[in-house]
Amino acid sequence: MKILSVVGARPQFVKLAAIADAAAQRDDVEHVIVHTGQHYDAAMSDVFFADLRIPAPDVNLAVGSGTHGRQTGAMLTGMDEVLAEHRPDWTLVYGDTNSTLAGTLSAVKMHLRVAHLEAGLRSFNRRMPEEHNRVLTDHAADLLLAPTEVARGHLAAEGLAERTLVTGDVMTDVCLRVAESVRGTEPALPEGIDHSAPFAVATIHRADNTDDPDRLRAIVTALQGLDVPLALFAHPRLVAAAEAAGIELAGGAVHVGEPVAYPDLVGAVQRASAVVTDSGGLQKEAYLLGTPCSTIRTETEWVETLEDDWNRLVSDPQELGVAVSRPQPTAERAPHYGDGRAAARSVDALRERA
Ligand code: UD1
Repeated sequence: MKILSVVGARPQFVKLAAIADAAAQRDDVEHVIVHTGQHYDAAMSDVFFADLRIPAPDVNLAVGSGTHGRQTGAMLTGMDEVLAEHRPDWTLVYGDTNSTLAGTLSAVKMHLRVAHLEAGLRSFNRRMPEEHNRVLTDHAADLLLAPTEVARGHLAAEGLAERTLVTGDVMTDVCLRVAESVRGTEPALPEGIDHSAPFAVATIHRADNTDDPDRLRAIVTALQGLDVPLALFAHPRLVAAAEAAGIELAGGAVHVGEPVAYPDLVGAVQRASAVVTDSGGLQKEAYLLGTPCSTIRTETEWVETLEDDWNRLVSDPQELGVAVSRPQPTAERAPHYGDGRAAARSVDALRERA
């Protein structure tokens, strides 16, 4: 049977690593990888394939950046041809990016079956492009591979229970594996941070935080005022937005670095005393690795991380200082995100329905 994976953005490469591995272990599975080219900088794409030992994509649509419509439209145009050539038994789409939506729409229009990995996540915030992408994808897809029981509940509430299967979270598979391989190694931090003393790790990339200069300035000021040195791994969107608004990211507690490879990120989070982010994946990685997280958003899709204050929502930047310096929770973390075998379960679900 043939599975065709559509990926394009950083977090999707991490999920793909787990699926590609599980597919390679099954003789009856042919796995075709399509990269839309949504992320194209080496640090945002190539290093993930190299470090996580993902086979090179069979196809690269090289769409690049653009407005939502332009970017998604270019992907749709490219996908038609690819799907007509490969005619997969399953088109597998991941998460909530524009690449997810484009892969889904192309396949359903060609009467090809679609499975959505990481189905059922909801922020209930209709301003987020990711929320549009995940709701539309879930309603168009034929099989919904949900990471958690909370996700199953959301899908059931939208009338999608019959198409749903809870598999666990594939990012957990990769995160736990990589954490083991980098344990004890020196974390790669921006210049000026001493890894033998406490430090924090931050990423900011959501449009809601980067694209309003006043909000971005308030966030950067709060980060610079933290009382612990902070490694800010800066996404190109953040760098571009700060430059356009005349905001200097470095200064005070903030030490700026490039986006880092996945093992370096996991290594840094594992050793950090705190994480500050607006990324979905990083909130969960912090939880899995036992590092308290402060999330600069009004809501999260990964609500389980909020238990016992392991993750705290901080929408007002002025509250960041207090949140980041809170002591590490002592409560055990429940295994909400599965047992590290979600990818195997997902691939087998597709084989059973080939
Ligand atoms: C996308 C996803 C988001 C995901 C994130 C992970 C959508 C709507 N959003 O957001 O869900 O959490 O990826 O990182 O799909 N850029 C570069 N080089 C690159 C890629 C992007 O310079 O390799 C810059 C461009 O200026 C681009 C901007 O970053 O316009 C935003 O990139 P885009 O792919 O549109 O969205 P992300 O913010 O990365």
